[in-house]
Amino acid sequence: MGRAKKVVLAYSGGVDTSVCIPYLKHEWGVEEVITLAADLGQGEELEPIREKALKSGASESLVIDVRESFIRDYAFAAIQANALYENRYPLGTALARPLIAKILVETAEKYGADAIAHGCTGKGNDQVRFDVSCAALNPSLKILAPAREWGMSREETIAYGERFGIPAPVKKSSPYSIDKNLLGRSIEAGVLEDPNVEPPEEIYEMTKAIADTPDVPEYMEIGFRNGIPVTINGEEKSPIGMIECLNTAAGNHGIGRIDMIENRLVGIKSREIYESPAMTVLIQAHRDLESLILTADVTHYKRGIEETYTQMVYNGLWYSPLKAALDAFIQKTQERVNGTVRVKLYKGNAIIVGRSSGNSMYTPDLATYGADDKFDHKAAEGFIYVWGLPTRIWAQIGK
Ligand code: ARG
Repeated sequence: MGRAKKVVLAYSGGVDTSVCIPYLKHEWGVEEVITLAADLGQGEELEPIREKALKSGASESLVIDVRESFIRDYAFAAIQANALYENRYPLGTALARPLIAKILVETAEKYGADAIAHGCTGKGNDQVRFDVSCAALNPSLKILAPAREWGMSREETIAYGERFGIPAPVKKSSPYSIDKNLLGRSIEAGVLEDPNVEPPEEIYEMTKAIADTPDVPEYMEIGFRNGIPVTINGEEKSPIGMIECLNTAAGNHGIGRIDMIENRLVGIKSREIYESPAMTVLIQAHRDLESLILTADVTHYKRGIEETYTQMVYNGLWYSPLKAALDAFIQKTQERVNGTVRVKLYKGNAIIVGRSSGNSMYTPDLATYGADDKFDHKAAEGFIYVWGLPTRIWAQIGK
């Protein structure tokens, strides 16, 4: 008896996921492996990947375009939550995993598979995100993770693959481990493993070095509806169009490079480089628009919700009851978040230079220091007396 009969494998076309196919069949007695590659806008040719899976022994090789849903249902929700892990990482990789898990489960159900598989090792966050998301969506499916158990080195993995007709990588493969989609690139390993080494310029693809960015700033007006970015300079954009447009524009100005030491869920600190131009600009602009529209207490309370939300997404709990409850809170706060934010893109910075909204709580009559000031200054004295009363009493009895 094998570990499963029919398996749907998350497939990227790389050596590890390719070797998973014969490994599942020959070592773990799986009868049939169906591969599934998700198109998340990684820009790679997915057609050769489809064939590679078949050559490696898959009975069926599926490619599913989920780009639209990725942005609409995952990235835009993260923008509404101003989600930056450890205040910096816009979760480009983390947000893709629950969506991949969703289509893995749907495919397993459609094809009558009894298990799902992925090629993650035991050291990363992605294994957690896949396993927990799949369990949440269909707890009766088994989850197989060959690379977590096989204990083969890189060379051994390649040699194992060659026995089953999986070619070794032709060109000397990149020393970096790169995950890429519409939201950006996550880059680790190679020389980056030394946290004291400056990232070489060659690792970047989406963002220019500051030395090469334009010497004149570029202004953009981003329009939001219910906290979702919908227009650029007055022009409606599709979700994908919005991200692509800002990746190009902000990348051209060197915006969205992040170099950080990050705390993984499994307790390891890792050095990650990200480039995420569009998300960097959109979260900044969104947060700024909220500051014009939301009350002070909602703004402040939401910061705590955002922190928890971000950790849950990072830690693989996208489909969990607390996350769903936080979603409801966040959605409620976005009802009035309509308006535009003017952003100046210049030399690695997205600088917010203006914001406007029909729902603005900013009241010029109250804020002004000019002659038309409507604020009742005398009211302040009584307010301060009551506000400071406990502090005053505390000080008195402490004397
Ligand atoms: N550390 C990031 C995360 O957990 C990205 C990991 C992606 N993989 C990579 N090869 N850099 O979301």
